[in-house]
Order: sequence, then C-alpha cells, then structure tokens
Amino acid sequence: MTRFKILCCLLLTYHLNDGKKIKGHKGAVNTGQSIVLALKESYVTSSIFRMFLEGEDNCTLDPLQLHTLTSCGFNSSNPLIIITHGWSVDGMMESWVHRLATAMKSNLMNINVVITDWLSLAHQHYPKAAQSTRTVGKDIAHLLHSLQVHYQFPFKKVHLIGYSLGAHISGFAGSNLESSEKIGRITGLDPAGPLFEGMSPTDRLSPDDAEFVDAIHTFTQEHLGLSVGIKQAVAHYDFYPNGGDFQPGCDLHNIYEHISQYGLLGFEQTVKCAHERSVHLFIDSLMNKDKQSMAYRCSGKSAFEKGVCLDCRKNRCNTLGYNIRKVRSSTSKRLYLNTRSRMPFKLYHYQFRITCVNQMEGIEPSLTISLTGTKEESGDLPITITEKILGNKTYTFLITLDKDLGDLMLLKLHWEGSAMWKNMWNRVQTIIPWGGRRGKPTLTVGRISIKAGDTQERTSFCPMTNDGQQVEVSQDKVFVRCKEETPKHHRRRHQNRHVVP
Ligand SMILES: *[C@@H]1O[C@H](CO)[C@@H](O)[C@H](O)[C@H]1NC(C)=O
Ligand SMILES: *[C@@H]1O[C@H](CO)[C@@H](O)[C@H](O)[C@H]1NC(C)=O
Ligand SMILES: *[C@@H]1O[C@H](CO)[C@@H](O)[C@H](O)[C@H]1NC(C)=O
Repeated sequence: MTRFKILCCLLLTYHLNDGKKIKGHKGAVNTGQSIVLALKESYVTSSIFRMFLEGEDNCTLDPLQLHTLTSCGFNSSNPLIIITHGWSVDGMMESWVHRLATAMKSNLMNINVVITDWLSLAHQHYPKAAQSTRTVGKDIAHLLHSLQVHYQFPFKKVHLIGYSLGAHISGFAGSNLESSEKIGRITGLDPAGPLFEGMSPTDRLSPDDAEFVDAIHTFTQEHLGLSVGIKQAVAHYDFYPNGGDFQPGCDLHNIYEHISQYGLLGFEQTVKCAHERSVHLFIDSLMNKDKQSMAYRCSGKSAFEKGVCLDCRKNRCNTLGYNIRKVRSSTSKRLYLNTRSRMPFKLYHYQFRITCVNQMEGIEPSLTISLTGTKEESGDLPITITEKILGNKTYTFLITLDKDLGDLMLLKLHWEGSAMWKNMWNRVQTIIPWGGRRGKPTLTVGRISIKAGDTQERTSFCPMTNDGQQVEVSQDKVFVRCKEETPKHHRRRHQNRHVVP
C-alpha cells in the first residue's frame, strides 16, 4: 500500500515536472514541495473549469496539467473571476452564464474569466445537488491552490461569482482554502434558500468566506415556509431590490405571456425571472456605468417605502453590483432599493416630506405632486396618505423616478379632496352662495422638503406667491425652492453638516 502511494507520488512528480518544462522554468519548486504538491494533485475533481475567451469561445482547463492554463490564455498578471451556476433542471448551461461572462470580458480590462461547469452534479434532485456544493467548493479551492503554487497567484486577486447554489459553492471554496489568506471577493447572486436558510455560517455562504462578500437577494417570497432565495443576510452587504421578495416585470400576471412564449415551462420562467434578476442587475452594473443603482440601509421593506431610509452617512448606502464600495464591517448590512422592470434598472429615489398644520378635523387627502428640475420634469406623482391627517404632523413618502431631474426647482401640489368634502362644499355653496373663500376647505401645509438619495441633497420648498401655505381643494399650488432658509432651518442644516463625513 505504502509502496503504491510512493509510486503514485513519483509518477505525479514526474508528471508535474513535465508540465513545468512546457511552461518554462517559472516557479521552480524544491523536491520536498513537489511531494506535498504531488499528494494534493492526486485530488480528483468533479467539476470542469473552462476559460472564457473572446468571441464566447472557451477552453477547458485541466488542473492536473497546468500548462493548459497557459495555452488557454490564462494571464497570471490579471485578476481571476470564476462564475459558478446553480441547480440545473435540464442539465444545460443557462444562457445568463455567457451573458455575464461576456459583460465582464467586454467591460473590464485584462481579466481572466473562468466558468465552473458542475452540471453533472447540479442535474440531480435538489437535495442531492445541494449536498454536492461542498464538493464543488473544494474543487474551486483546489484550482486556486494550484494557481498559487504554480503562478504565485494570490487569492486576493480572485473574485468568485455564484448564482443560487453556486453562491454557497463559492462560500465553500473560500472556507476550504486552508490558508490565512482569503479570497478577495465573493458575490452571491440570489443565494439558494432551501437547506441553507438558518444554517450556521460554516454551512452556507457567509462574510467569513472572503475579504469582502456581497449578495443580491431577488426571490425571497415564501411558499410553504421555503423561499427559493435565502432571506437572511449572508454577506457584508446584502441587497434586497424591491424588498427582495418579488421583482417588477416578474409578476404572476406575466405568467400568461411566459406560457405563450415558453409553453408549459412558463411557470418555471416566472420563478426564474425573479431568481435570475439578481444576475441581470449585476450585468446592468457592468453595462450601464453612468446608471449605477444606489441602495440604502433600512430595517425593512415597509420603512423603505416610507422614504425614511435614504441616508448615506456612515456607509449606510452603497452601489449595487460590480462597482460596490468594498467596506468591511463586523455585521451584515441590509440595503434596499427599488428598480425598473428592465435594463437599465436604475431608479432615482427621493424622499418627499410634508408637514400638515393644525387641521380642524381628520381628513384623508389624496395629493398629487409634480416636480421640475434643471434637467427633467417628473410628471404627476400621486401620493396616498393612508392615515387621517390630524394636528401638526410630518409625513414622508418614497418617490422613485426613472430619470434624473437635476437640481429641483419647482413643485406643484394638487389636493384632490375626498368626494365627501367636495359634496359638502357644493352644498354649502348652494345654501349660502355668499359664503366665499373663507368657508372653503383648505389644507394647510408647513414645511415641504425633498431629499434626493443619489446626491443626498435636501431642497426646501416655499409658496411661489405670498398667499400663505393654504392649499384649496382641486387647485394647483406652486412651490419653489426657498430663497433663504429661516434661522430654524439654518440650525438643522448646520447639524446635518456636522454629521456628514
Ligand atoms: C464551450 O464551447 C463549446 C463549443 O465551442 C460549447 O459547446 C460549450 O457549451 C461551451 N461551454 C461553456 C461552459 O462555455
Ligand atoms: C498579461 O496582461 C498584461 C496586462 O495586465 C499584459 O501587459 C501582458 O502582455 C499579458 N501577458 C500575456 C502573455 O498576454
Ligand atoms: C401646530 O403648530 C402651530 C405652529 O407651528 C401651533 O400654533 C399649533 O398650536 C400647532 N397645533 C397643534 C394641534 O399642535
């Protein structure tokens, strides 16, 4: 037995030296190291690694024959990106893989892109495929070790991008490195939920697996206690676009469109739509450099929808996708943003804040605002206040627009009183036609301000004409950027400035 092992070692050492001869004398190792190496080289990989080349061509790497790396065009001066797919229903490589690889190759200069093909293990029942994620993770770790030994290729130049089960595979690759040095970055694209949700950090993708870990959660809608994408935070920055549970353009009513397009696979397409959206958001960040989506730390979807989370102090906001600011923190940060239903996905987020003053009686106003900026106009934006307005109260709303308005200059407010109010007013007018303006229902507004998420700039609005802050039913009232701030506002501003880094 022992003799057999030694024989194997010798054979492998010979084999390795042979490989080295082909690629030249770079990285010569002494005999002691070769034996250690040789033992490691007896590793049997169950995954296939393919170098992605220009023109969507590819070249299969053989980790046992490292000269294939050179002949496949691997350039050790450049960073390495490894893309790993997820569970496979049909055993075919999904089309997003090439789209992502192409987007990376064409938008980033001088990179090596490798695609992990673990289809034979992924094309199994889900629990079996999920079980194989550790194995495939080890395969990647093994490849990275070989690169380190033969090319002195540092782990920190590696960025693993994994989709669904591939996200956990990337995590296992990181935790299997047997080195104090970590992989540079792991990006989890809607990491798989079933059999991973609630597990300990060593049994799923976690922030410990790389220097920097980011994740995009796009399909965390629960069915029977399970969700396709993992709901819990697994990274340094976890993004939840549109709340993370469902994506615009992937609604169930699109299922008919999908069925007519894909036949009975239509339902699968609908599920895939939201799950795969994570990939397309990432591709978008590479393709549309001038439209980077900004996301904001928030306690949850409902708080985000109220517009109270558009804050960038202390790294509370970050860019979704490839160009994220890599700030490590001890805790995972959950970030929210809304997106369009197609590329470019970016929406501009604004917080609209309005104070209503001293109402005599609870009313439920429905307001419409429209904004004019130096670049664009917003058009009519309906705002629904669901609570009754009583006393002096400040309301905040999230407004999202698909265009950049520029600096905000003008705001038009329209109050569509409830039917009840209108009726009453008409009756009052019929009974006492001389009642005049004084009896007309008015909404008194206090401070109005709008904060733009992207610029973090807050603009206060004052009535354009000197007729007070009253808004009458069915009338447009125009507000403009306040000329000078009152002393109170000055103080607020000053306080803010104090905190902003
Ligand atoms: C690699 O290329 C071959 C043919 O050129 C193709 O059939 C295969 O799907 C490609 N595989 C990957 C992972 O790109
Ligand atoms: C490797 O990439 C660098 C740029 O990062 C380039 O200067 C060099 O020529 C490349 N080497 C080979 C062999 O292509
Ligand atoms: C609302 O605020 C105004 C001054 O801004 C004050 O005079 C008034 O008493 C307040 N009303 C209520 C109900 O708090």
